[in-house]
Amino acid sequence: AGSLDIAARLLAWYDAHHRDLPWRVTPGAFARGTRPDPYRVWLSEVMLQQTTVEAVKAYFRSFLEKWPTVEALAAAPAEEVMKAWAGLGYYSRARNLKACADLVAQQGGRFPDTETGLKELPGIGAYTAAAIAAIAFDRPAAVVDGNVERVVSRLYSVETPLSEAKPEIRALVQKLVPRKRPGDFAQAMMDLGATICTPRRPRCMLCPLHGDCSAILSGDPERFPVRLPK
Ligand code: ADE
Repeated sequence: AGSLDIAARLLAWYDAHHRDLPWRVTPGAFARGTRPDPYRVWLSEVMLQQTTVEAVKAYFRSFLEKWPTVEALAAAPAEEVMKAWAGLGYYSRARNLKACADLVAQQGGRFPDTETGLKELPGIGAYTAAAIAAIAFDRPAAVVDGNVERVVSRLYSVETPLSEAKPEIRALVQKLVPRKRPGDFAQAMMDLGATICTPRRPRCMLCPLHGDCSAILSGDPERFPVRLPK
């Protein structure tokens, strides 16, 4: 199957089965196909860097309630922001969050809309820049987290050990990214990895990419991603 078919199948699955996560609903945005607020996307992606979706939900809601815009976050005292972050861990993220909000507010409250521009901001690395560019600005960026690495290494039965396979996986993802809805595509890959293409006992019968997946044909999808023995 061509990459377009794969993306189309994945997006159709996402439309029916996407997780309802608070940062995805800028009220009405999903239904209307409009892009979510970059501030919400940025805040959620920074929180999700080293923390699970379940743990992030409540913090995301509470931050938005306290500081509904990047300007509001910039105007907040740093101690308040650190206090609100307490419990999420990796506190350098909170310091960078505040520094980033200050910079963006100074620049008129608009986030850069390219991966390159986003990467220059504090706390935004390659992954987060790609995620924000795709989800908030519809850029065809390759968004590769651990879930996506697993999905793609199974889809193409990548035999290169994961520790060395990152460039290969990135290139495979980049070829799959559709020109329409790249942000939904990125989040669909994450949801597929989190709910269907799980590390153990993947639910291949429910997978929209069942017929495209090379690892299923091999009979042992759990063998991927390949890891070097310790
Ligand atoms: N993990 C990181 N970003 C995410 C997102 N936008 N949706 C679900 N899981 C994620």
